[in-house]
Order: sequence, then structure tokens, then C-alpha cells
Amino acid sequence: MKDSVVVVDFGSQYTQLIVRRVREAHVYCELVQHDTPWAEVERLAPRGFILSGGPASVYEAGAPRCPDYVWQSGLPVLGICYGMQLMAHELGGEVSPSQQREYGPAELEVADLGYPLFVGLPFILPVWMSHGDRITRVPPGFRILATTSNAPAAAMGNERYVGIQFHPEVIHTPQGAQILANFLYRMCGCTGTWTAGSFVAESIERIRAQVGAGRVLCALSGGVDSSVAAVLIHRAVGDQLACVFVNNGLLRKGEPESVEAVFSRTLNIPLVVADARERFLARLEGVSDPEEKRRRIGETFVRVFEDEARKLGKMDFLAQGTLYPDVIESAHPERRSAARIKTHHNVGGLPADMTFSLVEPLRYLFKDEARAVGLELGLPPDLVHRQPFPGPGLAVRVIGPVSKERLDVLREADAIVRDEIAAAGLEREVWQYFAVLTPLQSVGVMGDGRTYANVVAVRAVTSVDGMTADWAHLPYDVLARISSRIVNEVPGVNRVVYDITSKPPSTIEWE
Ligand code: XMP
Repeated sequence: MKDSVVVVDFGSQYTQLIVRRVREAHVYCELVQHDTPWAEVERLAPRGFILSGGPASVYEAGAPRCPDYVWQSGLPVLGICYGMQLMAHELGGEVSPSQQREYGPAELEVADLGYPLFVGLPFILPVWMSHGDRITRVPPGFRILATTSNAPAAAMGNERYVGIQFHPEVIHTPQGAQILANFLYRMCGCTGTWTAGSFVAESIERIRAQVGAGRVLCALSGGVDSSVAAVLIHRAVGDQLACVFVNNGLLRKGEPESVEAVFSRTLNIPLVVADARERFLARLEGVSDPEEKRRRIGETFVRVFEDEARKLGKMDFLAQGTLYPDVIESAHPERRSAARIKTHHNVGGLPADMTFSLVEPLRYLFKDEARAVGLELGLPPDLVHRQPFPGPGLAVRVIGPVSKERLDVLREADAIVRDEIAAAGLEREVWQYFAVLTPLQSVGVMGDGRTYANVVAVRAVTSVDGMTADWAHLPYDVLARISSRIVNEVPGVNRVVYDITSKPPSTIEWE
């Protein structure tokens, strides 16, 4: 039986990070909302609970409460920030508003280094605080384990329950991973068996149980998520899986060939390639509005996919590379972080009039975990670490109307950007890097002649999650090589500019 721990969410912006940190300690972990019933939590057979932080105050009417099963289970509990205040409030202690809100770094002085949570840690350690309320009396049977100058009870505990006012899940608490590991290993008795390898083995069992003798259809985009999902399903049910790859003509140089090579030849997974380049171009002719482009590409994809699927005969399941953040956001729309600025199109969208059950083997994984699973399954590292690429592809990087000629110009320029970033060893440091073909023409001089040709923009950004981004401060010599190679090697381009705007106020893609 695998170890697992459940994080009860009270709405902190850091809750997902807690889950990630626990999993980094090789203990399986899932997030549940504070009002999730026991019937849904039971299947996880947790060895402990972590109560997250949250924006409420425990003494306010309507503040979220801890589910009864947490205290009734008799399992160890770690309360973080609001979670600690809840623990104090519900077990007979006292929580009060503090004079000043404490936000930022603090120094934690540990009073009891023998307490399991603090074993192996120094007596004084830096921690990250973010709270308004504080504990003014610990519950009966609890003792104070640590203090800061502003929080006399910065940690409290008894033999089973422990509360901490600071956030161990953020990087500003450098020993946070050790503190969480102490809770998992020393208080919950976990043994740390959750790894990419154990995930693969369990998933194969689960997929077999779900699919039985049915047939599974998968739309491959060449991206990380759909590729990992396909390989995992193929391991489980072999040729019951059929993969369709739609070549929409909007992919980067060499991409369709590399998807075919990896799947058909390296992994031996049968792949149907639908060459729909002409169909997409025809639908995009004369369209320059970005949202209209996105809409038409999404719709054309569904049509092409349907046509191919029909040729394959009856399918029972549709495979999707859905990841955990999407699951959390769709189950709890209030956790959705950003307004829709662009209509995102993701390959694998379910055609409205086709009925399938979904197979989503990655639905409890974060992106970096999906990558680790991909490597475990033998996918090539350059595919597993591929930079994000928008569903509508190069169509949103050819600004203005899309034509085959303009796509070809962009493809060549983009290949040079990728080549030079790779040659400089910057692939992992930069989140995304690509070329944009602007609708501008400018005057240049080549040899003795005047030119009047295209302006290419280079975009390279650093980011953690794509929600915000900064333009990458690429070394000048790398920019110089990119620029001179593009104007020399790509016919029809005589000027290269570098995009130096962050997101916000810009977005990463130009359209
Ligand atoms: P923006 O341009 O909104 O992009 O700052 C944020 C991230 O999302 C990617 N992106 C997409 N991904 N389907 C996708 O799967 C799409 O339609 C799409 N549009 C943008 C973009 O490349 C960046 O990583």
C-alpha cells in the first residue's frame, strides 16, 4: 500500500506548492477542499493530514472549518498558518488579531529541537511569514515549540498534532523541505515510496482496469503531455491504442518528422498521420484577427480529427494529457488564476458530437512530474523538455494573414533562434524562445542594392508558469548571431528586432 497524505485546502495561494513539496519527498499527496466529504477522501487511505493556509480569520462568522474526519481519524495533523489557527481554535486554544500583519522573512527560534518536526534542524532558522492573526493561547495539552519576535507561538504541538505559523512550502523557508519531510517520515510514518517508477507501475494497472478490452484514441500534438499519456497507455494496453497526429502545417521546422520518428520508429507505437496542411491554410486564408484564427484552427482540428477517427472504426475511450493544475482549476473555478485573454486551443479537445469516456493518466501530476514519468518511459529528453508551444502553432506568430510563403519564412527564422539558443546552452534557462513574423516591411541595403523586406521579431522570456514573464536578458553575442544568421540565411528578411516587454502588460505570444 502506498503512503499518502491529504492536504486540506483553505484557499491559500501556496496550497498547490504544499502538494508539490510533499511529493518531492516521495509521498503521494492530493489536495481536497475543506468541504470534501470523507467518502471521497477515504480512497486515498491517508497517513496524515496537512491543513493549508487561507485568507479567512477563524473567529469570523462563516470562516471555513476543519472537516470532522480530520480529528476523528486519529491521524497526525500539520496545520500551516490558517491551518494552525484552526487547530488552536477548534481544540480549545485562542486566536486573536495581531497588532501588525507580519509578511516576509522572520527568524524562528526553536525551543524544542527534540520534537519530531525539528529534528536535525538548527536552533535558529529563517522562515517565511504571512499572517494577520496569531495564537494567544495554545490548546490544552499543547506546548510552544518555537517563537519569532512577532509570534510568541510560531510553532505548537502535542504528540500527534503540530501547528506552524510560517510557510515551509515556499523557497524563502530554506529548511522547509526538511520540516515537511520530518512530518511525513517521523510523525506520519511514511516511507517515501512514491517515485516516477512506482507511478508508472500503478498507472498501468489502473489503465488496464479502466479500459478492459476497449479501444483508445489519442490525439498527439508532439507536446509533452499528450506524448507521455500516449506512451503510458501504450505500455498498458498495447495496440488497443490508436494515435492520430494532425499535421496542420503550423508546426515548427522538423517537428512532424520528429513526432513520426519517435512514435513509429523509436517507440513502435502505430501512428496515423493526417496531412491537413492544405485544409488549414484554406480555412485561414485572408484571416488576420487573432481570435478568429484561433477559432477556425480549433474547429478545423476537430473536423480533421473526427474524419480520421471515423476511419479507425469504433473507439471507446479518448486519451487526454490533462494535468493536475487543470483538474484543480476546473473543480474549483474560484481557484482559476487569470481571466481569459486568449481562447486557448489544446489538441485533444473533445469533438462535441462524439461520445467517449476519457482516459487521463496524468490527471494527478504536475508538469515536472509528467516530465519525470516521460523520461522513465524512455521518451527522448528533448521531447520531454520541449518548450511550451501554442495549439494554434505558427499561425499566431505570423502576424496578419497566414500564407504558406509567410509560414515558411517564419519556420526558417524560428529554426535559427532555436539553434542558437541550444548552441549557447540556454535551453533550460529560457522558458520560451521563438521568432515572430511581423507584418512590417522595412528598407535595407544588401550588397549594393536596396531591399524592402520583412521584419522578424525575436521573443525570448523567462517564466515559472507562463502566467507572468520577463524578457530574457540574452547575451548580446547570442542575439548578434541570431540576427546575422536570419538576415543572411532567410530570404525575404532584412531586419531583426528583439522584444523587450514583460508579461504583463504584454503577453508571451504576439496574438
Ligand atoms: P500568452 O501569450 O497568453 O501565453 O502569454 C501564455 C502561455 O500559453 C501558451 N499558449 C497556448 N498554449 N494553447 C496552448 O496550449 C493555446 O492556444 C495557447 N496560446 C498561448 C504560450 O505559448 C505561453 O506559453
